[in-house]
Order: sequence, then structure tokens, then C-alpha cells
Amino acid sequence: MSHSDAMTPQGGWFTRWLRQFERRGIRMARDLNNEYMNPLTDTFPAHRKGELGDVAKVNCATCHQGAYKPLYGAQMAKDFPELQSTPAPAPVKVAKR
Ligand code: HEC
Repeated sequence: MSHSDAMTPQGGWFTRWLRQFERRGIRMARDLNNEYMNPLTDTFPAHRKGELGDVAKVNCATCHQGAYKPLYGAQMAKDFPELQSTPAPAPVKVAKR
């Protein structure tokens, strides 16, 4: 790769730099679905599940909603110190219809 290729947006350092965040986003969404959403399958009432009885899933748009940083980077974690301890609070049962 020539020096000028490395400086272009496609295939260059900038794209590679951006992809590391994208991979983190993909891993985060996958982990949230595997570790938090799937175990909630029995908690969800039937009418909130998919045709195959699967639980709702998060995707990029769940949080981002068109923004590069969700809520344009608003700091939220500081207002919920109880969520920053481990283990996480037990899931709350969703009201049945
Ligand atoms: C659970 C909520 C959530 C989900 C789901 C999520 N993100 Fe994010 N993402 C965030 C938050 C919060 C930040 C900002 C982190 C920060 O402020 O440093 C972020 C940051 C990013 C950034 C970096 C932005 C920057 O300026 O540093 C990228 C790129 C990104 N996410 C891509 C993705 C992709 C792609 C997906 C889907 C595969 C995804 N995200 C799913 C919450 C989420």
C-alpha cells in the first residue's frame, strides 16, 4: 500500500481506527443478547415474544438511534451508581397482559 492509500478514508488508518469501535459495538450487542436478553426468555409474556418464542433483541439502533454516540454522548452512568456494582440487580418480572 502506498503512502497516499494509507491516508485515504477507505482502507486507510482512519477506517481501521473506526472499525475497532464498530467491532466493540457488535460484540457489545451480541453479549447483551446472549447474556441478558436470552436468559429473560421465561420472564417475557408470550405476546411480547417473536413467532418462534424468542425474546426481543437489542441492535445498534436500540441505543444509537442515528446518533454517533447515543444521546450525543450525554453522561448517564453517574446518575445510577447502583448499576455500577456487580452483580447486576435481578431482572424485574414484566407485567402480563
Ligand atoms: C447498549 C447500547 C448500545 C448498543 C446496543 C450499541 N452501542 Fe455503540 N455505543 C454505545 C455508547 C453508550 C457509546 C458511547 C461510548 C462513549 O461515550 O465513549 C457507543 C459508541 C459507539 C461507537 C464509537 C463512537 C465514538 O465516537 O467513539 C461506535 C462506532 C459504535 N458505538 C458502534 C456500534 C455498532 C456498530 C453497534 C451495533 C452492532 C452498537 N454500537 C451498538 C451504546 C451502544
